Amino acid sequence: MKLLRTKSIEQSIADTDEPEYQLKKSLTALDLTVFGVGVVIGAGIFTLTGRAAHNVAGPAIVVSFVIAAFCCALAAMCYAEFASTVPVSGSAYTFSYSSLGELFAWIIGWDLILEMFLGASVVAQGWSAYLGVMLEKFGIVLPPAISYGGVIDLPAVALVLVLGVLVTVGIKESMRVNMILVGLKLFIVLFVIFAGLMFIDPANYSPFVPPAGPTESTSGLTQPVIQLFFGMQPSAFGIGGIFAGAALVFFAYIGFDVVATTAEETKNPQRDLPIGIIASLTICTILYCAVALVVTGMVPYDQLDPKAALANAFAHHGQQWMATLISAGAVAGLTTVVLTLMIGATRLIFAMCRDALLPMNLAKVHPKYRTPWLITAIVTVCVALAAGLTPVGMLEEMVNIGTLSAFVMVSIGIVVLRRKRPDLPRAFKVPLSPWLPILSAVICGYLMLNLSVETWLRFLIWLVIGFAIYFSYSYWHSRLLTHAPIRPDMLEAMETGHAPRDSDDHR
Ligand code: ALA
Repeated sequence: MKLLRTKSIEQSIADTDEPEYQLKKSLTALDLTVFGVGVVIGAGIFTLTGRAAHNVAGPAIVVSFVIAAFCCALAAMCYAEFASTVPVSGSAYTFSYSSLGELFAWIIGWDLILEMFLGASVVAQGWSAYLGVMLEKFGIVLPPAISYGGVIDLPAVALVLVLGVLVTVGIKESMRVNMILVGLKLFIVLFVIFAGLMFIDPANYSPFVPPAGPTESTSGLTQPVIQLFFGMQPSAFGIGGIFAGAALVFFAYIGFDVVATTAEETKNPQRDLPIGIIASLTICTILYCAVALVVTGMVPYDQLDPKAALANAFAHHGQQWMATLISAGAVAGLTTVVLTLMIGATRLIFAMCRDALLPMNLAKVHPKYRTPWLITAIVTVCVALAAGLTPVGMLEEMVNIGTLSAFVMVSIGIVVLRRKRPDLPRAFKVPLSPWLPILSAVICGYLMLNLSVETWLRFLIWLVIGFAIYFSYSYWHSRLLTHAPIRPDMLEAMETGHAPRDSDDHR
């Protein structure tokens, strides 16, 4: 058994040229930036800013945003270099396939499935919460059992089903809807910043870094692993609070990596992907810092609402209509996050099926819409079930750990690929390699250590399931082992829903 087999970059690119597996190339750098901003700005800024400022960082939460942005910028540069070298679908999964080998690629793909599935589910639940708040302002109250936090979260399920249909109809069409919603979301964020300026009281900024103190006692499975293994105390406020805040608001930046999953649908990936990734991250960082400064200036940090800080900062100043407007904007804004995460998940699974690590007959492209319709249907059902039935507040940290582990692997992958394939053309290069990629891996690893023991255990269980699938199915069916070409008979077999014959023959 060869554990570290690797797919060549040339092979990765050639695979995407198979006509039956080819996706429409229609996206530009602007589309990608909109796509990136669409998925990044979401529940993080609308809810977490308030919670992090209130619980751990105070007005210095703006510094936490800068630290988290620094961590993401390092990872983003690694993503940009990879995406400009290996322009195929699948994000970090594909990149690591050609640098670290198939086993690592599988793990990373498996982690990203976790990030995108649960991310979409969590944000769909958040969307449902905001919808409830907004409808209430119009006098409509949904029955508690079938709304946010109830037995089944029906609005979240309905949202996911509608978005699933959109994704099937076509990425360009989805992009158009996305563009409108992102525009609305940006308007709301800018509204918060400029309207909020009028209500800032400079006294609220002092103390800017509130004095440090222990956090609410966390113990057992809910304590961070760093506390358990290194005997360090997590602290609220002070310098420690700024870092704790950074680990928390990291969530707000999650998603820019999803831009890389659309590489195959990009007209000029070598040029447009780095632009799309870095531009969306820059825009979000500027907006986040501005919102953090304004909101902590409007309301003393200890009076910020941990659930809906942006809207309620205006309610605090008696501006009810502004609060309603912001709730409505949050509903629109969170829609685009769910949409983009669902698109990312379908594209990732598509790439894994094409490599035959998952059953190839899932990867059929719809003859008319040119989208992977069967995978989209599966993603839609799984996300709808998780969003509808999982208790609120259980999954967020799982999203963070899945993403951070992918960032660590991508950063290491850059160093490996530079050594293994110095000859490859790279439209974008991370400066100061290998030092910046190593720093990126270390910082992401440090943030992972700040997550709870409970999260690590769940993550380990997820990995064990992943390994079981890999060694019982994927390893033996992989096209790297079977060398199965995409031949008409295979295509025919897939048309009729049968498993490709080659992979069975070569077992
Ligand atoms: N960054 C995304 C959000 O904040 C996941 O909702």
